[in-house]
Amino acid sequence: MTKYDEIKTQIKSSPKVWLVTGVAGFIGSNLLETLLKLDQHVIGLDNFSTGFQHNLDEVQGSVTEAQWQRFQFVEGDICDLDTCKAVMKHAKAGDVNYVLHQAALGSVPRSIDDPINTNKSNIDGFLNMLVAAKEADVDSFTYAASSSTYGDHPALPKVENNIGNPLSPYAVTKYVNELYASVFARVYGFITIGLRYFNVFGPRQNPDGAYAAVIPKWTAAMIKGEPVFINGDGETSRDFSFVANAVQLNILAATAGDEAKDEIYNMALGDRTTLNELFVGIKEALKENDVHYNQEPVYRDFRPGDVRHSQADISKAKNMLGFAPTHRIVQGIYEAMPWYVKNIT
Ligand SMILES: NC(=O)c1ccc[n+]([C@@H]2O[C@H](COP(=O)([O-])OP(=O)(O)OC[C@H]3O[C@@H](n4cnc5c(N)ncnc54)[C@H](O)[C@@H]3O)[C@@H](O)[C@H]2O)c1
Repeated sequence: MTKYDEIKTQIKSSPKVWLVTGVAGFIGSNLLETLLKLDQHVIGLDNFSTGFQHNLDEVQGSVTEAQWQRFQFVEGDICDLDTCKAVMKHAKAGDVNYVLHQAALGSVPRSIDDPINTNKSNIDGFLNMLVAAKEADVDSFTYAASSSTYGDHPALPKVENNIGNPLSPYAVTKYVNELYASVFARVYGFITIGLRYFNVFGPRQNPDGAYAAVIPKWTAAMIKGEPVFINGDGETSRDFSFVANAVQLNILAATAGDEAKDEIYNMALGDRTTLNELFVGIKEALKENDVHYNQEPVYRDFRPGDVRHSQADISKAKNMLGFAPTHRIVQGIYEAMPWYVKNIT
């Protein structure tokens, strides 16, 4: 039995109260779905800036009525401290035990276009959440950090302690989160866990708009028969991880003992896939779903702010939290494709 199986059995028999911020987004809605299926009480906060009601509707359709009744949704902004304080209590189930803070404005290019609003949600909002959670004396606070914090540090694979200079406003915001988190531990004794997500993908990741991530963006283009653009020569690589792995690590982190807290962990697979390999992988997986894409990719300039290679060392999360990823990249892509084929017209 894995540590994750153990924890799932434990919380199922003794349900907890979880706060998921950014619950209408990609990762937030996947956290919600898993937690409700484990009969947990969940309060969710979102301002729908990049999240969608249809993500919540889809989760509702995937759980029982009794499970859905354990979910309380609050539409609001983490930039408002009173809102952050108000969501520390679930109307039916009481005080929040575990916070999974996902709300933020993602995307490196968005932060380059709009550093002000990125800063507001990612730093002011983060600080509000820390203050509110500290005052509510929650059992744990786990937050979405980012692999962008490694910046220009050349070492591969990335080990938590060796970071470089940030390459974008987004990376600054995520690094500041880590700094605030460690200061809150030192000054107030409020202990948190940061999960540095590498590239996460899966169902409900938004394929639309200028700031879409590469997997949903390419998948949508292939389904629609449109050109796929590769920034650079295609040998840029990333450590892509299926969202179920991120959900697992959040649940392990939230329920971890004190010895594993006040730490930062890489959340990835520990593999490296080039964009050229990814292009072929998505194309092949779509074939299984009767989508046949016959165009070659279109190569264009490298994108500013992007790091060349990214690959995580995940031994810390394995050793200290019992992390055991369930999905390799190919498996994840094959699991995600039917969702895109169904939802993209
Ligand atoms: N997806 C990835 O590969 C990846 C990689 C590194 C880090 N992250 C981090 O993971 C978290 C979740 O990302 P995601 O991919 O699910 O993105 P997403 O955009 O789908 O979800 C973010 C959610 O937060 C909400 N939100 C944003 N600002 C808010 C605010 N001020 N108040 C309330 N809600 C707000 C959005 O409406 C959205 O629903 C983010 O913190 C992101 O920076 C994601």
